[in-house]
Amino acid sequence: MSIYNIAVIAGDGIGPEVLQEGIKVLNTIAELDGSLHFEYTYFPWGCEYYSQHGVMMDEDGVERLKDFDAIFLGAVGFPGVPDHISLWDLLLKIRKSFDQYINIRPIKLIKGAPCPLKDVNREDIDMLFIRENSEGEYAGAGDWLFKGQANEVVLQTGVFSRKGTERVIRYAFETARKAGKSLTSISKGNALNYSMVFWDQVFEEVAKEFPDVQTASYLVDAAAMLMISDPKRFEVVVTSNLFGDILTDLGAALAGGIGLAAGANINPERNFPSMFEPIHGSAPDIAGKGLANPLAAIWSASQLLDFIGHEKYGQLVLDAIEGLLLEGEVLTPDMKGAASTAEVGDRVSKIVSSLMPSVMVE
Ligand SMILES: NC(=O)c1ccc[n+]([C@@H]2O[C@H](COP(=O)([O-])OP(=O)(O)OC[C@H]3O[C@@H](n4cnc5c(N)ncnc54)[C@H](O)[C@@H]3O)[C@@H](O)[C@H]2O)c1
Repeated sequence: MSIYNIAVIAGDGIGPEVLQEGIKVLNTIAELDGSLHFEYTYFPWGCEYYSQHGVMMDEDGVERLKDFDAIFLGAVGFPGVPDHISLWDLLLKIRKSFDQYINIRPIKLIKGAPCPLKDVNREDIDMLFIRENSEGEYAGAGDWLFKGQANEVVLQTGVFSRKGTERVIRYAFETARKAGKSLTSISKGNALNYSMVFWDQVFEEVAKEFPDVQTASYLVDAAAMLMISDPKRFEVVVTSNLFGDILTDLGAALAGGIGLAAGANINPERNFPSMFEPIHGSAPDIAGKGLANPLAAIWSASQLLDFIGHEKYGQLVLDAIEGLLLEGEVLTPDMKGAASTAEVGDRVSKIVSSLMPSVMVE
């Protein structure tokens, strides 16, 4: 029996609602397989915890998380707690403490998912974004001088270390090579004359180690336009923290909307746990009403399965999501359906059960 210890940080708003459905699907797979088992440990951290205890997570939180096989996170943020506190004191603290320097966001238009582009070939929208996740524009470096005075100045410093830049670019090349796909770098060397000139230089250097990988390089503004006008150009994509943050939301809109978009924060060396989460926020406007779409959280569960070495089950979960979308009967209101969060989770689990025998035979 393979036992996986999962730390669950359900967080705020719709976080607990959607995560419950991801867990439902993981448990369905474990039960059907019979040789794997998930143990969940729940941590009550988030904005409600902050309002009671004055901290987003316990002082020894990172220490307590470090031996888990993975972290499954819902969403954090709620009106009343400034967003920079909820982000920096929980999410970014975990990403940085566990050196989760790779953020993987699949942008794949699966069958049945809505797409705002007209006449698009589904297979043309199949990108894998690899976003730098530990430094860059989100390094948290800067200063606030002469606060409140007429000569007030704020500085937000982008931090691009050689180690940090090289490792994400090398990871992206390795991923592209393994998948037999091209790699596109997105930067902005014309305007950001230090950080992005350096990024482009490192990309060219590392490219020499991978002569078999076809490459392209775009300025971020051109890339935003091309993702809409010619999405098939993009296969594996590597970019900085800020550009990746923005472009993957654009990608989410192309590939079915925020209710379907998942992200994995990976420590490739596996020295620390990696973290899996839907990319949407806590959606306070619909929290507690059973309206939230759990498919992004379920997709994150699929990424978790991939990461722990059960890729065939990761694919099975994606196939089940696709099956649900093609049926078009059990969908939440954001996808023009009338089903509840739990009903969608139940239906995906049922489809997983019906597809399982063919996977077990393989
Ligand atoms: N990773 C995270 O934890 C994360 C990410 C983004 C925002 N946030 C936080 O979430 C809070 C709300 O932020 P926001 O409103 O900008 O973004 P949001 O993603 O929470 O919501 C944006 C819109 O999308 C809808 N939506 C989001 N997820 C949905 C789902 N699964 N099903 C159906 N509809 C969904 C919401 O109802 C809302 O109308 C803020 O406090 C923000 O800081 C957290």
